[in-house]
Amino acid sequence: MKTLVIGAGNMGLTYAEGMAQSAMLNRRNLMVFDKSADVIARLRDLDHFDVYESLEECLPKADMVFIAVKPYHCDDLFAEMRPMVNKEQIFVSLMAGITIGKIQEGLGVKKVVRSMPNLPAQVGKGVTSYTESKEVSRVELLMVRNLLDTTGESIHVENENYIDASTGISGSGPAYVFYFMNSMLEAAQKMGFSKNDSKVLVSQTFEGAVELFNQNDLSPDTWMDRVASKGGTTRAALDSMDDNNVKELIKDAAYAAFDRAVELGEEKK
Ligand SMILES: NC(=O)c1ccc[n+]([C@@H]2O[C@H](COP(=O)([O-])OP(=O)(O)OC[C@H]3O[C@@H](n4cnc5c(N)ncnc54)[C@H](OP(=O)(O)O)[C@@H]3O)[C@@H](O)[C@H]2O)c1
Repeated sequence: MKTLVIGAGNMGLTYAEGMAQSAMLNRRNLMVFDKSADVIARLRDLDHFDVYESLEECLPKADMVFIAVKPYHCDDLFAEMRPMVNKEQIFVSLMAGITIGKIQEGLGVKKVVRSMPNLPAQVGKGVTSYTESKEVSRVELLMVRNLLDTTGESIHVENENYIDASTGISGSGPAYVFYFMNSMLEAAQKMGFSKNDSKVLVSQTFEGAVELFNQNDLSPDTWMDRVASKGGTTRAALDSMDDNNVKELIKDAAYAAFDRAVELGEEKK
């Protein structure tokens, strides 16, 4: 299965590296194309995969094509790709808000997988949701999944509505966690901790809490009860958050991202 990644930015390069380091593809079967001369020069120095500077040289050879350019570049890219694609190729989009229908129409193809990755893919801890057009077979979908999983975990969703929804949870989600971390870092420094000590206190707290959460099936509420005792310090913090409606505000934020993903899809139709 010859695989091509188009667009070697944050996401494209992350997936290309994930695939290159896995046992899924040997390096002869992995091609990367980007239009930037600087990017191409840097990737050639890296020598992790075959790097191409023209689509004519790589696109016709590919069985599977990952598309990782910014959504606003997709119209130009589709116009350039269209004369070179064939109906057996599978196109896996990492682009936010670009629908399967738009990709099928833009490229004149049928086999499309739409996915929503997230940034922790860069450290092998990503989560990607994905769904496919009806022309993609089970075997082909399994191959796509195996490649997506080289950057972390993936979940298959029934339809594109869930791709937009997962944008609001996991796609944009790392930024919500950083937002929370930022507030805690600012509080720590205000209390007098050095920048470095604040970072250790906050990042270990997040990492430890996630590790505990992943260890068994206890709910976050149960874990909160284990930290908080009546009249104690944690209860004071949780009461303050409840009084300020923080839980609802976080849900509203996730819905704002979900709604924006739907809106972007409508604009791009
Ligand atoms: N970053 C995230 O956390 C995240 C999360 C979920 C989904 N995504 C999706 O992932 C996609 C890529 O995002 P990114 O952050 O990786 O973008 P990026 O860093 O800007 O990378 C895109 C790369 O593609 C190149 N490119 C643009 N047009 C091209 C073309 N016609 N042919 C070949 N290469 C082309 C760009 O070159 P130039 O810089 O010269 O334009 C750039 O090197 C987006 O559609 C985004 O919605 C990203």
